[in-house]
Amino acid sequence: MKQLLVNADLLTFSGPDAPRSGPEMRSVGLVRGGAVLMDGDKIVSAGLRDLVQRHPDAGKARILDAGGRLLMPGFVDSHTHPVFAEPRLKDYALRSQGRTYKEIAAEGGGILSSVRALRGALGEDLAHALFERARRFLECGTTTIEAKSGYGLDAASELKTLRAISAASAATPLEMLPTFLGAHAVPPEYAGRAKDYLKMLCGEVLPAVVREGLARFVDAFCEEGYFSEEEAELFLRAGKEAGLGVRVHADQFSRGGSRLAARLGALSADHLDRVEDEDLRRMKEAGVVAVLLPGSNHFLGLCDFPPARKIIDAGVPLALATDFNPGTCPCWNMQEILSIAVSRMRMTPEEALTAATVNAAHALGLGKTHGRLSPGMQADMVLLDCEDLREVPYWFGANLAAAVFKRGALVHSTTELRI
Ligand code: NIG
Ligand code: FE
Repeated sequence: MKQLLVNADLLTFSGPDAPRSGPEMRSVGLVRGGAVLMDGDKIVSAGLRDLVQRHPDAGKARILDAGGRLLMPGFVDSHTHPVFAEPRLKDYALRSQGRTYKEIAAEGGGILSSVRALRGALGEDLAHALFERARRFLECGTTTIEAKSGYGLDAASELKTLRAISAASAATPLEMLPTFLGAHAVPPEYAGRAKDYLKMLCGEVLPAVVREGLARFVDAFCEEGYFSEEEAELFLRAGKEAGLGVRVHADQFSRGGSRLAARLGALSADHLDRVEDEDLRRMKEAGVVAVLLPGSNHFLGLCDFPPARKIIDAGVPLALATDFNPGTCPCWNMQEILSIAVSRMRMTPEEALTAATVNAAHALGLGKTHGRLSPGMQADMVLLDCEDLREVPYWFGANLAAAVFKRGALVHSTTELRI
């Protein structure tokens, strides 16, 4: 089916097939009075209405009226932990009384409490909960997410998690790219024996994950108290050799992860609160995207945020993601993350929008098909109830998504678009 969406101001992010860095991050490709022509799941033309309407297929298209709103690529959320059995309300309440994330984790809360709950859950219940969460992402204009395992930490539970992602993917229009985060924490049965745990992961679980085609990427939590640089490297190299892309939880509390990401040619290094100039030079050379997750700093009540300005000035392409997870950021709304990025990390609204679309697509290796409104790209778009791009981060706490298209299909709307 051909569809012509008219009467919109477009953020096209048009430009080269490459992640944006430095001053390029301010260029959003704004087209006032624009239109987008879709054919099935693809964009065939996007730009000024008069130009788009001259396309030979425009006359055959169903016409939709965007009502003068802002139209942009669907948000790409390149870092989420969306498969969990229960929210961590107890941790949250304890933190409100002044306990820290580390203290709570040391007392049996934190990641390991999510592991206990997930191990006891049925795969079909996890898939159903994920399907419901996928709807929340779509309603907020997010059309693609990366989805990690990592609350199973044994063969059966990691496979159960990744199969739940696969089952939910078949049922929801939200595109989910699965990541095997086996090295998220050392499970209790391997306490003090991280290397043995990693051997089990590489010898038993990874081959099954690859055989069943359950993951696109591997990831490791490279931090003091979790996995050292050397340990994380063992796991990530095995994943890379098995054909999976590499991502790293890096430099959140301690240094090492971003260095490792550069050494392995990872797609992204994520968090980066403690990243140093030297690490940034390495990341830039190796083409690693910096994925910042300021929602977790916000939710943990931290005063410090990742050094976005330093990263942009160093010329490393920067993406923003939610880090959606039950412990440190139970937020699926990228609009909220943009708001935090602008207020707390001094990113400009333009930079934040670039970071949530074109750069986020590159962080997932999807830069040729996702994150821009250009001919040939997948027709993933969000129509926002606003006229000025600065409103997206400005109305914090709101969901401005009035209509959401995934692969050309209208998957959410709060408004009538027909003329
Ligand atoms: O911040 N990998 C470390 N922490 C995760 C959230 C884990 C949790 O507390 O459940 C993150 O990405
Ligand atoms: Fe994370």
